[in-house]
Amino acid sequence: MRRVRDIQDEIIKLKKEKDICILAHSYQAREILECADFSGDSYQLSVMAEKATQKTVIMCGVKFMAETVKILSPEKTVYLANAVAGCPMAEQMDKEFILGVKKMYPNYTVVAYINTTAELKTVCDVCVTSSSAVKIVKAIPNNNILFIPDCNLGDYVAKQVPEKNIKLLQGGCPIHAAVTLKDIQEVKAAHPDALVLVHPECKPDVVALADYIGSTSGIMDYAIKSDHKEFIIGTENSIAEHLQYMCSDKKFYAMSKKLICSNMKATTLVDLYDCINSDGGEEIVLDSQTIKDAKHCIDEMIRLG
Ligand code: 13P
Ligand code: SF4
Repeated sequence: MRRVRDIQDEIIKLKKEKDICILAHSYQAREILECADFSGDSYQLSVMAEKATQKTVIMCGVKFMAETVKILSPEKTVYLANAVAGCPMAEQMDKEFILGVKKMYPNYTVVAYINTTAELKTVCDVCVTSSSAVKIVKAIPNNNILFIPDCNLGDYVAKQVPEKNIKLLQGGCPIHAAVTLKDIQEVKAAHPDALVLVHPECKPDVVALADYIGSTSGIMDYAIKSDHKEFIIGTENSIAEHLQYMCSDKKFYAMSKKLICSNMKATTLVDLYDCINSDGGEEIVLDSQTIKDAKHCIDEMIRLG
């Protein structure tokens, strides 16, 4: 039987031989992160995707992340390591629906969370990620903003940028939105000395009790640099696990057992191995018009972020 280390060694050997860049979102399992050329939050991954010099990129994450790589680097061959790993939030609103909403709000700038399909991005003006949303919305000259699809992230942004008129639609991450005020109150009562670090995809009443609000990488950086010793982690439970591994002198508690994203957990080390061996994964294929139209709002994100 092959050990994890043997499979990792094989992946690392093959990626060098085949000139492949492996990108992994921070929610991925540690054995995958250890094989990656770069890991981070959605914003960092999109910046790294553009910088990668390899001809082929394998994304260990969810589909919209692989599509973002393809949009930024159409000349590269891009694979999603596990073909079924999608983000339910990204599928909540389609292009036709948003075209209809735009007719109701003709003078609004449409700001799309990066967790959207390539097709939907073609009719949006600017993309944002959880780490860049506040800065980008502040920098947009128009005061009227239609923020899609995550109403929790949108609510957080609206509170940080009160000078703008921000319209929200009812969408969001089903995993983060499942955490309740009662959940956070209970975990705070159990660990009264812990700081609460929360992703802005959580509901406003949960975010309101946080000591720090930020992206997956933001939460990790904050916890690593802090002198504090105990933290409640309000995002996918892999982050609490990674932090516990990295900071053995600190204690990390998951805010809720509900914070498990089955899509982010779908990719295994063997999926990555199969994908690198051309025996699995999904090649991302987008037509040139979709790439051209969707690229505009991702370029704007990188310019303003
Ligand atoms: P980040 O931008 O913080 O990586 O978030 C992506 C995501 O899907 C969170 O659920
Ligand atoms: Fe999508 Fe939520 Fe999973 Fe992130 S945690 S990939 S937003 S379903």
